[in-house]
Amino acid sequence: MNILLLGSGGREHAIAWKLKQSSSCDELYIAPGNAGTAESGTNIQLAITDFAGIRQACLDKDIHLVIVGPEEPLVKGVVDYFKANPVALSADIAAEMGLKEVPVIGPDAYGAQLEGSKAFAKAFMKRHAIPTAAYREFDADNFSEGLDYIKQHSLPIVLKADGLAAGKGVLILNDREEAAQEFTSMIQESKFGDASKKVVIEQFLSGIELSVFVLTDGKNFLVLPEAKDYKRIGEGDTGLNTGGMGAVSPVPFAGPDFMQKVMERVVKPTVSGLQKEAIDYKGFVFIGLIMVGEDPYVIEYNCRMGDPETEVVMPRLKNDLVELMLATARQELDQLTIEYDPRIACTVMAVSGGYPGDYEKGKIIKGLDKVGSEESLVFHAGTAEKGGKIVTNGGRVLCVTSFGSTVTEAVDRSKKILERIEFEGMNYRKDIGFEFN
Ligand code: AMP
Ligand code: GLY
Repeated sequence: MNILLLGSGGREHAIAWKLKQSSSCDELYIAPGNAGTAESGTNIQLAITDFAGIRQACLDKDIHLVIVGPEEPLVKGVVDYFKANPVALSADIAAEMGLKEVPVIGPDAYGAQLEGSKAFAKAFMKRHAIPTAAYREFDADNFSEGLDYIKQHSLPIVLKADGLAAGKGVLILNDREEAAQEFTSMIQESKFGDASKKVVIEQFLSGIELSVFVLTDGKNFLVLPEAKDYKRIGEGDTGLNTGGMGAVSPVPFAGPDFMQKVMERVVKPTVSGLQKEAIDYKGFVFIGLIMVGEDPYVIEYNCRMGDPETEVVMPRLKNDLVELMLATARQELDQLTIEYDPRIACTVMAVSGGYPGDYEKGKIIKGLDKVGSEESLVFHAGTAEKGGKIVTNGGRVLCVTSFGSTVTEAVDRSKKILERIEFEGMNYRKDIGFEFN
């Protein structure tokens, strides 16, 4: 089977690496990919939202399956585009795959609103009695009610831009006046563009966060290993939010009793909710949870895998990923079970100097040839090949995932490898998994 994967981050390198291990994977293309994905397959220079170009690439390269890494193409309707403009599979491939048209793994634009609209996600949770923070939504029409709501709201106040805002649309404020100002700037001054035309104000929940990943075919589902990511730039979870500086899987505090609650109260009602509402969802649901006392609450849904969580989940997953993707497209996930490596996997992300603020690109990355190790893997994120050299090409540059029998052992292994890699301005957190040491 020939596969096209959309995206260019560490998540996509980990997915590409995993796909390539399947005996069913013939040609693997990644659009646009990075210097790491070029080791697992062939990069194609295509924008992830150029749907006509993606469809044309499917025809030109005889692609049989499309997998979408990031949320943007899903929210913008790549699945809908392929539904309206299907690519037929040849008779022999159709027979082999049990499908007539090239499937695109991911929800349609309506389903992707679970991530693309906070108000949609909150209303979905409300309809299906899924535990989440109490909330109200506001826009220009009920703006002054929003200001009144803030006046009597308990602190801290959580303000969320409704739409996609590159991970920056959530503000947690300890001052009502400041909250009122931010709320005003979101709705009246388009602080986050159209994304903040609508704002969700919600109750602050205090607890530990973790992420649970569900693969659903719209009827059946499988739960992948859970993970915890480290969003802040600074050690001890301080400083600005980033896309993610590291991750750990499994999550030591997520014991069987807690995971059972997650299953009954969150995962099952989420999948049955999608089914009851006839939402066409064949793909990953990333459930961001917070453990309050002993109970799970949903902080957010994403319509894709997490990054850098994928870089610990994929190495632990023992299943054939192509088989999982195909079963998703065929709505046959009930025929499979998830098998995973019981060892602990941790990843540590190396970022460009200045990130998550301004940073420079194009710094030569040295030492990548010296990283060979049984227990560790290097996944590229923002990297590119330039004149035969691998250079930095983003804020998050690369991560090293290692296995260990403890979190400390795994993190130490990743740090040892990172000591052999260098680029100007390189920075990484040395305390990933600190609360589990
Ligand atoms: P999001 O952009 O939805 O991932 O939210 C960013 C971060 O804000 C989350 O990872 C949480 O740490 C925090 N957050 C969001 N909603 C709440 C809430 N209701 N209570 C406490 N923290 C929250
Ligand atoms: N690591 C968080 C995310 O992928 O959204």
